[in-house]
Amino acid sequence: MKNISNSTFAKTVQTVDFDRSQLKSKIVHLGFGAFHRAHQGLYTSELAQKGNSDWGYCEVNLFGGEALIQALREQDHLYTVLEKGADGFTAKISGSIVESLHSDIDGIDTVLQKMVESQVAIVSLTVTEKGYCADAASGKLDAQNPMIVSDLAAPDKPSSAIGVIVEALRLRKEAGLKPFTVMSCDNIQENGHVAKAAVLQFAALRDEQLSQWIEANVTFPCTMVDRIVPAATDEALTEIGDYLGVYDPCGIACEPFRQWVIEDNFVAGRPDWDVVGAQFVADVVPYEEMKLRMLNGTHSFLAYLGYLGGYQHISDTMADENYKAVALKVMLEAQAPTLSMPEGTDLEGYAKRLIERFVNPALKHRTWQIAMDGSQKIPQRFGGSLRHHLANGTSFELIATAIAGWVRYTTAVDEQGEAIDVQDPMAAKLQALYGEHGTGADVVKIVLGLESIFPAELGQNPQVVEQVTQAYEKLIADGARATVAGLRG
Ligand SMILES: NC(=O)c1ccc[n+]([C@@H]2O[C@H](COP(=O)([O-])OP(=O)(O)OC[C@H]3O[C@@H](n4cnc5c(N)ncnc54)[C@H](O)[C@@H]3O)[C@@H](O)[C@H]2O)c1
Repeated sequence: MKNISNSTFAKTVQTVDFDRSQLKSKIVHLGFGAFHRAHQGLYTSELAQKGNSDWGYCEVNLFGGEALIQALREQDHLYTVLEKGADGFTAKISGSIVESLHSDIDGIDTVLQKMVESQVAIVSLTVTEKGYCADAASGKLDAQNPMIVSDLAAPDKPSSAIGVIVEALRLRKEAGLKPFTVMSCDNIQENGHVAKAAVLQFAALRDEQLSQWIEANVTFPCTMVDRIVPAATDEALTEIGDYLGVYDPCGIACEPFRQWVIEDNFVAGRPDWDVVGAQFVADVVPYEEMKLRMLNGTHSFLAYLGYLGGYQHISDTMADENYKAVALKVMLEAQAPTLSMPEGTDLEGYAKRLIERFVNPALKHRTWQIAMDGSQKIPQRFGGSLRHHLANGTSFELIATAIAGWVRYTTAVDEQGEAIDVQDPMAAKLQALYGEHGTGADVVKIVLGLESIFPAELGQNPQVVEQVTQAYEKLIADGARATVAGLRG
């Protein structure tokens, strides 16, 4: 296998030509996964490329990915990001990583020692939702979680990300060192608050004073992260290898778009990521809402109406001019007016970029995949908007159609009479309900009555029931494609 650091690339590639010896491990990142490589890793490399930045990463994996860390070391911590646009691909070599550790290879003590080095200013995370060991319903630390139980029994040999952070902070406190900022980059609403709650609660279970010290001295900025980064399958790695002319086992492919909105709240300094396109703001919540309603809400609309219309991928739905036009209406008419954004936010521009992303045929984003877990997603993506329209007396026909699409989808039989593989924690409950009440229009009222999905003031609002029922009747009578065509106006 050739090493990517000394290869001649077969195609034009943006290589790293800054002095990497200037970079220090000022950020320890937990979770060297797909997303981090294509997102924060690349932002930080591009910042160094601009000059005047000594911010580099020590990557840490606590779970899995041993081979990935070994491969990264073998190629001098360089890796490829292949940005796949509708009009062509660009390969970028990322050079922001200085060193890497794996708790199973190097031992947890080595990881902790690194986190206690004086130059470490930020510990960032992409450890997925389960990495926070929080109880889904209460949002509180799940003290019964086996990793938490084991970390409380041996707190100086932690295995969970939360246990590792708390022990590293304790060691810094003992050593009289300044703490670091803890920055979550996981796709979780108010991710900084989730991280903070887990860290403080775990620390308090160890030592109340430690928890108080962390609360007084550590910040947990929220971030909104966005970029579609599919898993690095063999097929994806082969595609990257074919493009580069050299196989990169750490390579990752993604869409060209990226976004990073960061709460500007760091206790020990931070890179000027805004120089390479990130945004520092006082409050991330409005941007999360923007993404949830305009991106994710429209994705859900396209997933249900698209799947029912016989389209396998989001890009297939967007190749249908009716779906494309209605997707823009969902963004600008149903969702954007419900947002309270800081002055100067260009929601039309945001919608235009979303449409470009959805059109991109290079990303095979399946409608079935986005349709998953609708009972959890629908309230977040449409609940706030529905409230807004009801309060203002404005039309919510598009949202009613999205919800009707979800109801129709969860009946688990498509327009051709074929079974739909409905993946949803409420799937069994919904099946039982359809078994009892049938799938005629009357069932809509019963589904909307499920208070674990729809709060009563929405699900039992007569206008909501009427409009979703009407949309459902249309879907049954005319099918999804004709229903969408009818919404184009
Ligand atoms: N892939 C995307 O398109 C995308 C987009 C936006 C946000 N994100 C977010 O990024 C995060 C990571 O996603 P990904 O696509 O990189 O996944 P991935 O599977 O490639 O990487 C997951 C990483 O998390 C670590 N991890 C998993 N469970 C852990 C645990 N219990 N404790 C500690 N570490 C753990 C793994 O070691 C791995 O490094 C997720 O929260 C996801 O929502 C992903």
